Amino acid sequence: MHKGFTLWFTGLSGAGKSTISHAIYTRLKELGARVELLDGDVVRTNLSQGLGFSKEDRDTNIRRIGFVCELLSRNGVIALVAAISPYRAVREELKTRIANFLEVYVDCPVEVLAERDVKGLYKKALAGEIPNFTGISDPYEPPLQPDIVVDTSQESLEESVAKVWTKLEKLGLLSFSREQVH
Ligand code: ADX
Repeated sequence: MHKGFTLWFTGLSGAGKSTISHAIYTRLKELGARVELLDGDVVRTNLSQGLGFSKEDRDTNIRRIGFVCELLSRNGVIALVAAISPYRAVREELKTRIANFLEVYVDCPVEVLAERDVKGLYKKALAGEIPNFTGISDPYEPPLQPDIVVDTSQESLEESVAKVWTKLEKLGLLSFSREQVH
């Protein structure tokens, strides 16, 4: 059986956390791994329904996701998380609590994100229509010592996925065969 671990993608909205984590999820699934993906946007429609974007609510959201990761990881399941998780302290807290916790910083300049504006949120935030919007009117504290850094303004999706995958291999976290899984 492969080891459980948590691969936590943090970064601004639209930086590519969901896209990269989804690609990793698919590759792991294809190998027969037991893996779950917890996406901020989805978690907020169930586990964290009703929470807003104050510091307190975001920290609650992150602690809840972290709790689920802890349960999954310690039972040999791979947990992937895509959540802005803007506050360093709560991420550090999870790092100490969860065994095999890896932090992936999905970096991208806010100017590039505002230009891309896939969901149209940056335009609204810049117009003052969304209070506490991360990177515009709310803080984002980048990791000081992330395990992996990808820069989606410089790299293709394939390059970013390869970077993450290589790191997992180096750490011996992908050393399982189809037969060993299950
Ligand atoms: S977190 O800060 O608690 O980690 P999470 O990743 O769950 O955030 O949710 C972020 C998503 O919520 C964004 O991708 C965006 O679609 C949406 N969103 C709505 N309001 C905000 C806001 N004020 N700041 C950031 N994201 C927001």
